[in-house]
Amino acid sequence: MVGSVLVNRMREEDDFAHCETTFFSTSAAGQRAPKDAAVEKLANARDLDALAAMDVIVTAQGGEYTEAVFEPLRKAGWQGIWIDAARTLRMRDDAVIVLDPINHAVIEHALASGIRNFIGGNCTVSCMLMAVGGLFRHDLIEWMACSTYQAASGGGAAHMRELLHQFGALHAASSSNLADPASAILDIDRAVLCAQRDLGAAEVAQFGVPLAGSLIPWIDADLGDGRSREEWKGGAETNKILGRGARGALPEIPIDSTCVRIGAMRCHAQNLTIKLKSDVPLDECVEMIADSTPYTDVVPNTKEDTTRLLTPVAVTGSLRIPVGRLRKLAMGSRYLGAFTVGDQLLWGAAEPLRRMLRKVLKQ
Ligand code: HSE
Repeated sequence: MVGSVLVNRMREEDDFAHCETTFFSTSAAGQRAPKDAAVEKLANARDLDALAAMDVIVTAQGGEYTEAVFEPLRKAGWQGIWIDAARTLRMRDDAVIVLDPINHAVIEHALASGIRNFIGGNCTVSCMLMAVGGLFRHDLIEWMACSTYQAASGGGAAHMRELLHQFGALHAASSSNLADPASAILDIDRAVLCAQRDLGAAEVAQFGVPLAGSLIPWIDADLGDGRSREEWKGGAETNKILGRGARGALPEIPIDSTCVRIGAMRCHAQNLTIKLKSDVPLDECVEMIADSTPYTDVVPNTKEDTTRLLTPVAVTGSLRIPVGRLRKLAMGSRYLGAFTVGDQLLWGAAEPLRRMLRKVLKQ
């Protein structure tokens, strides 16, 4: 799915005009390649010799593929640029997590010093930084707590389909009562709950439990220390992207998250509680946030603007990153609240990769 979004974005931005492209496939080698290809047929994505003939490899195939192919290629002496979206290589010292509107300088420095592995970050991390990167740039954040509301798309295409099948099953279980305006809401409620609890193994194969009409407050592996891997990424990747912490010149910023899967299709939302290093007035914070990236939009903190502009439905398919609910919190004037939504498949996955490719092609 990320691959399809990536190719669509590359077409929209005419990226293929700037390079000679060979398309590789793990399952359909030999079949006809997309029209953008310089080579007519799909090459075999497991053919290390064919891969080694490339100057740049861009892949959104996922972690298993990166694990299978990356090391053998490098061991065979391949010196090209590797750009991917999987977490496999993100935290390595010889890899940079790319989000150029935020860490352009880190990327340029890495390119100049011979780094050849450029990896897209975790989707919630990238979308969060696109929203409030201005506060980090001004070194105003003492710590941050995030509560995420992550869409089904974060799990992949099969997860999105499963969510919709579940919604369908819930509707089917309640439709006759729903059609009767005189029916009792508690009967509808009971029918829906029974349908949720009766979903079979095949109907929850991706999420493990019902998601439609519910939520799942755990995403990715259990690290055994009270956190999920998704929650760990929030702090670890943010600091790496910003060049902070053990590998950077500046101290690490403590960031913790509670990551929750909700029944949205493809936009990740998150609520941020930020402790500021100093009591900067709200209007100055808003200005810095608005200046985070050319894609960041501040949404006025009103009911009308928030409900119209700050939802997954409003943001899906857009490169804009709205951030709203901006206000000082009851805990004191150094506590700032914010809420942001981003398309998980665009800034959260495909966009940083194609922009990295364009940067490499310009060299
Ligand atoms: N891990 C994310 C999620 C998506 O499950 O929503 C990829 O960054």
